[in-house]
Amino acid sequence: MSGVDTWLAGWVSPVPTTNQGTEELGFQRWFHFKEAFSPSFVLSVIKSQPIPPKSIFDPFSGSGTTALTSQFYGIAPTVIEVNPFLADLTEAKLSVIDAANLLHKKRAIIRTAKSLRTPELLEKYPMPPTFIEPGVKGRWLFDREVAIQIFSYRSAIEDLVDENIRRIATVVLGSILVEASNAVVNGKGRRYRRNWQSRELPDVDSLVDIAFSRILEDAPLTERKLAKKYTLLRGDARERLKDVDDGLDLALFSPPYPNSFDYTDVYNIELWMLGYLKDHNDNRVLRSQTLRSHVQVRRNFEFNLESPTLKEVYEKLTKQRDQLWDARIPEMVGAYFEDLIHIIDETGKRLTKSGRIELVVGDSQYKGIHLPVPKILEELLPERNLRVLAKQTVRSMRSSAQQGGKLNLPESRVTIGHHP
Ligand SMILES: C[S@@+](CC[C@H](N)C(=O)[O-])C[C@H]1O[C@@H](n2cnc3c(N)ncnc32)[C@H](O)[C@@H]1O
Repeated sequence: MSGVDTWLAGWVSPVPTTNQGTEELGFQRWFHFKEAFSPSFVLSVIKSQPIPPKSIFDPFSGSGTTALTSQFYGIAPTVIEVNPFLADLTEAKLSVIDAANLLHKKRAIIRTAKSLRTPELLEKYPMPPTFIEPGVKGRWLFDREVAIQIFSYRSAIEDLVDENIRRIATVVLGSILVEASNAVVNGKGRRYRRNWQSRELPDVDSLVDIAFSRILEDAPLTERKLAKKYTLLRGDARERLKDVDDGLDLALFSPPYPNSFDYTDVYNIELWMLGYLKDHNDNRVLRSQTLRSHVQVRRNFEFNLESPTLKEVYEKLTKQRDQLWDARIPEMVGAYFEDLIHIIDETGKRLTKSGRIELVVGDSQYKGIHLPVPKILEELLPERNLRVLAKQTVRSMRSSAQQGGKLNLPESRVTIGHHP
């Protein structure tokens, strides 16, 4: 069996573009990343290329599915990711793991963590007030005892010298945080668990133990990757693309959607508790580096994109500004396309003549005003010497509750290539 067949043996993906059904799949189960591709989708896109690709690029790595699938398939990937925790998750999945060493270090980490458990850890690692008991207005994400246990692991992990092991251990700790918290995270953000106040305190030690065991179980599979190398660029794809070499055969990615989902907010439990964010300025900087798919956008944004459909949508949204749930939505939509088209344009410049960009994008809707992303891309690309070669709906997404909550928003695969 080839590398990728060994990895995916016996696994069937229920929904092509999502991570559904990957709870027990090697590597993908290390961290539940709701927005991930299905590996079988990545594989089918690679196999569908008219000329077999030799290089694969993903500027929005997320949990690293494109890159990991490429490695198993035998192509060394190049990826970019702005969220430092997700960049570590990607890198943990792409690097070679010495299982014997990891097992040894796991035992040492657990021993050290248990010896470090004191309330002083709460002062060592200051958090936003909503995070730790007593929280704000009687609500908090982590009970004091739970936070001390988590921080004892953080402290033990920070002292590790081996960067690879430190990264894997950080992913382990990151993977248990939501479960250890009083909240659940869903499509639009976080909410408190029902009856969280009377919930039995989670046992951080056993959660960590189980998370390590998964990685240890999957580690031998690393040997079945047909390409072990990778290039991971950390930071903002709008900036880092200039460090990507020419000669890309396939760029396969799913950018954030224009649905005001703020990736910095949604993953801020991991970002704060693991020490990637230390103050509100760090948070502001990270948000400014993410694609403008959220409403934290300047109001005086100048709209200068040449798509009639986008213009029409923008004008309709501006007229209804006062009725939108956030008055900055029209600017967010304009800024979103400015960012996305910049990424596509810069990627296009690095594509080989027959190279392709395969993009998965989702439409959005505000106050009944539909934002047809593939159509807008089709109108914007010819200016950039690129064109849409194919559009295909891969699934229907549910609109928000305010918009009726129906399955009426298409998620599309858009294939882009050079003009002939
Ligand atoms: C839809 S997710 C990608 C999921 C990925 N396909 C997977 O299988 O896990 C989009 C990702 O883009 C990242 N992102 C957002 N803005 C970015 C930027 N400016 N540069 C690089 N990555 C960015 C987000 O942090 C998020 O991880």
